[in-house]
Amino acid sequence: MKLPYAEPFRIKMVEEIRQSTQEERESWLKNAHYNLFNLKSSQVFIDLLTDSGTGAMSDQQWGALMTGDESYAGSRSFEALHETVKKISGYQYLLPTHQGRAAENVLFSVLVKDGDIIPGNSHFDTTKGHIEIRKAHAVDCTIDEAFDVDNPHLFKGNINLEKLEEVYKSHPKEKIPFCLITITCNSSGGQPVSLENVKAVKELSDRYGIPIYFDSARFAENAYFIKMREKGQENRTIKEIAKEVFSYGVGMTMSSKKDGLVNIGGFIALNDENIFRAASNFTIIYEGFITYGGMAGRDMAALAVGLNEATEFAYLESRISQVEYLGNRLIEFGIPVQKPIGGHAVFIDSLKFLPNIPRDQYPAQTLANEIYKEAGIRTVEIGTLLADRDPETRENRYPKLELVRLAIPRRTYTNNHMDYIAVAIKNVYERKEEIQKGYNIVWESEILRHFTVQLKEA
Ligand code: F0G
Repeated sequence: MKLPYAEPFRIKMVEEIRQSTQEERESWLKNAHYNLFNLKSSQVFIDLLTDSGTGAMSDQQWGALMTGDESYAGSRSFEALHETVKKISGYQYLLPTHQGRAAENVLFSVLVKDGDIIPGNSHFDTTKGHIEIRKAHAVDCTIDEAFDVDNPHLFKGNINLEKLEEVYKSHPKEKIPFCLITITCNSSGGQPVSLENVKAVKELSDRYGIPIYFDSARFAENAYFIKMREKGQENRTIKEIAKEVFSYGVGMTMSSKKDGLVNIGGFIALNDENIFRAASNFTIIYEGFITYGGMAGRDMAALAVGLNEATEFAYLESRISQVEYLGNRLIEFGIPVQKPIGGHAVFIDSLKFLPNIPRDQYPAQTLANEIYKEAGIRTVEIGTLLADRDPETRENRYPKLELVRLAIPRRTYTNNHMDYIAVAIKNVYERKEEIQKGYNIVWESEILRHFTVQLKEA
C-alpha cells in the first residue's frame, strides 16, 4: 500500500484554543457590530483572518532569535539577513522595514509621483493605497480568466500582455516608473504567475524601457506552483526557480510575515545603487537606521532562517497541500470555491453561496458572519466592504467577485482543523435558504472601511 502523506515536522509547543457556544458567539458578534475584526482572539476558535504573521516559527528560528545582535548599526543579524536575501533573490542591496507596507512606503517615496501609472496584476490593497495616496494610479492587467472562479487556468495571477502593452502605448515612459508583479497574486485568490509570463512581461517591458519590481510576499509559494505546474520546471529546486523569477526584475518589496515565516517584518531588495541611496534616506526617516529599519536584531536573525526554510520543497509541499486539502473537502461538499485552490487561502464565492442576499447587504460579510456563528471560525470578507466607495460619487464599488477568504496560517493548524472548518461550512450551506438578510452600515470610515465598519442586521 502506498504510504499516505505526513507532515515533515513534529510539534514541540502548543497553544490552547477554546470552543464557545453558539449563544456566546451571537452575543460577541453583536457587540462587535457584526465586524469580525472587532472580535477578541479569545472569542475565536480557528482564526483564518489572515496568514500574515500568524504562523509558527521553527526550533531553528527560535534558536536564531536568542543569538540576535541588537547593535544599532552593522549588526551580525543584519549581515546574516543580507547574505540570505542576496542568495535567494540575487539583489545586492537590502533595506529592512517593519512590514511589507512600510517597504512599499519607502520604495514608492522614491519612485512614484503624482499622475504616475503603475500597471501590474491585481495590486494588494496597501500597495494600491500607497500608489493612490501619491495621486498615482494602479492599473490592473490581470488575465480575465482570474475573475471566473470555475476557470481551471493554472496561473490565474498572470498578466495579460495586451492589456499591459495598451498601458505602455497610451502613456509616456516617464509616467510609468515600473510594472509591479505580485507573486502569488493575493487579490486574485492566492494565484500564481508562471515563469513564462514573467519572462514575457520582462520582454515586453524592455521594449518600452520599463523596469519590473516584485511584490514578493508569497514568492516561495509562487515558485512551488511553477515547479509543480509548469513544463520543464519539475526537476529544479524552489531556490533556483525563485532566483530566476527575481532575475527578470530590478527589485522587490517583501512582507516577511508571509514567506519569511516570521511574525513581523519586511524589506526592500534591489540592484540600483542610486535608488538604494534615495530609499535609504526614507528608511531612516520612516523606519530606522538602514541596517535594522524597524526590526529588532533578533527578528532579522529569525527571518534569515525563515527565508531558507520557506524555500525548501518539503515545507512548501506540506503548506500548500494543506490548503488544497481544505479546498478539496469544500469542493466535495459542493461549496462554490475559486479554482484552482490558491497557495495561502481558499476563497468562497458568496454570490453563488448566498444568491438571495442583495449586493448592497454585503453577501460575503453575511457569509463570513454565519461561518463564525456556526463554529467560531473567523474568516475575512474580500468583497464590497473591502472595495470601499468610489471617491467621487461615494457609491459602493461592487467588485467582480464577492469572496470570503479562508487564509491558512503556516504550520499552525492540523488537518483535523481543516475537517472541522469544512463541515462547519457545509452546515451553513445546508441552511443557506434560511439566510435571507444581510447587513446595513451604521458607521464607516472614509477609506479602508472594512477594518472598522459597524453593521446592523438588515
Ligand atoms: N503585498 C501583499 C501581496 C500582501 O498580501 C500584503 C499583506 C502586503 C503586501 C502588505 O504586507 O501586511 O506586511 O504590511 N497581506 C495581508 C493579508 C495583510 O492578510 O493578506 P504587510
